[in-house]
Amino acid sequence: MSNSQTLQRPYRETGRPRSLFARTGRPAWLEVDLGLLRDNIALLRKRLPAHVQFMAVVKADAYGHGAVPCAEAALDAGAESLGVAIVEEGVQLRAEGVPSPIVVLYPEAPERAEEFLRWNLVATVADLDFARALQKAAEKEGRPVGVYLKVDTGLGRYGLLPADLPEFLAHLREFPLLKIAGLLSHFATAGDRDREYVARQLDEFQTLLDALKAAGEDLEAISITNSGAFLEWPESYFNTVRLGILMYGLYPSRFSEPTVPVHPIARWKTRILRLRELPAGASISYGRTFRTERPTIAATLPIGFADGYPQALSNTGDVLVRGQRARVLGQVCMDAVMVDVTDVEGTVKGDEVVVFGRQGGREIPVSELAERAGTSVYELLSRLGPRLPRVYFDHGAPASSQDS
Ligand SMILES: Cc1ncc(COP(=O)(O)O)c(C=O)c1O
Repeated sequence: MSNSQTLQRPYRETGRPRSLFARTGRPAWLEVDLGLLRDNIALLRKRLPAHVQFMAVVKADAYGHGAVPCAEAALDAGAESLGVAIVEEGVQLRAEGVPSPIVVLYPEAPERAEEFLRWNLVATVADLDFARALQKAAEKEGRPVGVYLKVDTGLGRYGLLPADLPEFLAHLREFPLLKIAGLLSHFATAGDRDREYVARQLDEFQTLLDALKAAGEDLEAISITNSGAFLEWPESYFNTVRLGILMYGLYPSRFSEPTVPVHPIARWKTRILRLRELPAGASISYGRTFRTERPTIAATLPIGFADGYPQALSNTGDVLVRGQRARVLGQVCMDAVMVDVTDVEGTVKGDEVVVFGRQGGREIPVSELAERAGTSVYELLSRLGPRLPRVYFDHGAPASSQDS
């Protein structure tokens, strides 16, 4: 018996199921344990000096886990603010009643400035056009708008170059309704092997902060730490960390030092739809990349790359069936994956299958799937499709679960 409980949160009580697939009981779903999410945040917070704020990064639908429930759980666990990538993600949270500061971490096009005022979102600014548009929108509304300034210390993606920042700040004085909330930068190699480059970026950031201080600029929030930096670079914390992947219980890469024992909060499950006995010499799936060498029992699973199971796992991925590994046979299709259950005794149609996560004491970590597919845990999670219902629990597993 499980002591788990399905969470009753406002977004569930509205009577609007989060997706058609949840309502119809599709035999493929993602279990998300919000209790573990809160535990992870508590664990991460313990590392932080009291003055350091925690921005929970919930962009890309909370890395596939579901933005609204994860945002609410993160705020319950004491996160002070939320980070998203695009305006729509901020609007989604606001529309569902999330009250905290929400920072859109990437600069947007000037035409979108009014949305920041309408939905009370904090903008990230790295050019004068967007700053000007925000000022105009703020004048129209008759109230200020919060902005972070983004500086590029070496990622080469967004942001002002440090040398341009003093002049940019001088220009911003022409936009009095822009309330500068702080300064952001982002690491290129934190959590990776290139420690030297992290040190260089950090150095660049610190030099800039010193110069701004000397010039009398007083910036409230200073933030450069992501999960990789959190694990190995406490000197990067300043007064706000922005954490994503660690919160969801995973490490940024296989080179990360696992210095905080977080737990993965999600498990992907499905059920065996068909069991087929095939003779030796039969081919399986498109392109006939797999042929049976012995009489084989192949189980068909009703998931595919349209749900986020990478096609790169054709003939190389494993799933768990009755606590044992079963290998993917042939090409992963858009809506089906075949696996070899010949050696999994007692397998029957309808058996629960774990695509990633634990079952019967064994585990298929997301990191293993990502590595075998030649991608990152970030990409694998954020590509989990909208057809996959997310089922939320608070510590535990559903009563119907076969696993321990
Ligand atoms: C600007 C920004 N800050 C913070 C994060 C969080 O990174 P992580 O998930 O590695 O903690 C991301 C994620 O890519 C990001 O783009």
